[in-house]
Amino acid sequence: MSRTSRKREHVEHALTTGQSGTHGLSDVKFVHNCLPDLAMEQTDMSTCIGGLALSSPIVVNAMTGGASETYSINQSLGIIARETGLALAVGSQMAAIRDSSLVETYRIARREHPHGILFGNLGAEATPEMARRAVEMIEADGLQIHLNVMQELIMPEGERDFSGALRRIEAIVQAVDVPVIVKEVGFGISRETACKLTDCGVAAIDIGGRGGTNFAQIENMRRAQPFAVLNEWGISTAASLLEVATLEVRPDIMATGGIQTGLDTARCLALGASCVGMAGVFLRYAVDGRTEEAIEYVNNLHEELSVIMTALGAPTIAALQRVPLVITGDTYHWAEQRGIN
Ligand code: FNR
Repeated sequence: MSRTSRKREHVEHALTTGQSGTHGLSDVKFVHNCLPDLAMEQTDMSTCIGGLALSSPIVVNAMTGGASETYSINQSLGIIARETGLALAVGSQMAAIRDSSLVETYRIARREHPHGILFGNLGAEATPEMARRAVEMIEADGLQIHLNVMQELIMPEGERDFSGALRRIEAIVQAVDVPVIVKEVGFGISRETACKLTDCGVAAIDIGGRGGTNFAQIENMRRAQPFAVLNEWGISTAASLLEVATLEVRPDIMATGGIQTGLDTARCLALGASCVGMAGVFLRYAVDGRTEEAIEYVNNLHEELSVIMTALGAPTIAALQRVPLVITGDTYHWAEQRGIN
């Protein structure tokens, strides 16, 4: 199976499976404040991730590039991000590192979003030289390195040797002159892993929790003999956020994994994230070229978030990160057994 056909299949299966898991964010409750002492127009959603200033805490997260159809997807995503002021990540650039005729399927995102924040993306198998080329390819402001061990293991033609990844990440951090964000793709990041990444000097961690696009399910659809028991594998978005956000020393956090609403965005920010990533939710709009609808969707997300910030008396993302929360259900039990408080 070529890398290009695999990319087509990932898009097709992501559209079919959708986002059906439990991200645990409904376990996170806000404490209503009926004296917020704030006007809605005072709310300011600007934030920072790994030293990069973002005008919105919503990031269109990494999806694709590398196959001819993905050109128009990245073009639509570039337009959506430009018109709404969102940061945007392209999908893994390894295809274009190996075959330069595919570069345009990624570069189109930069052409459509010339002044925006753009993240490059590679896997942890990348060398420092590949990382430099990925950044240069799209004039990236930051570089994401994805960790997707369980996806690879279920993928019929996937990688089976994961040794040396941390060492390579450390070398990439040293080699590139943009912030490096290490991300999961939907199985979550634990505090133990986050500590190792912190020691490597990564600028940010995208916890990429379970509960959104499910790459166990997607790869199982591509297998003759599916490992269906692994479809629920991983740390939920809420639990993973608690794992990493409560560390005394840690980099900035991006929260991804099933986020679709302003309320879930607010919950992630209140748990300590600096921004949220959304991938699957933008895929359908982009595949169908429904950019106007996607822009309306983002405007609505911003308004919803602003309403919640006002109701909580939190004029900024930093203030939202300090509002009181009550954690219930599975997420509460997870935190208790892991000694997180
Ligand atoms: C992804 N994702 C992804 N991540 C990454 O780091 N590199 C990649 O190349 C891809 N490719 C990719 C393709 C498709 C079709 C989808 C839907 C997703 C993972 C993505 O960035 C994100 O972590 C997960 O999709 C979880 O977020 P959502 O979809 O639940 O919002």
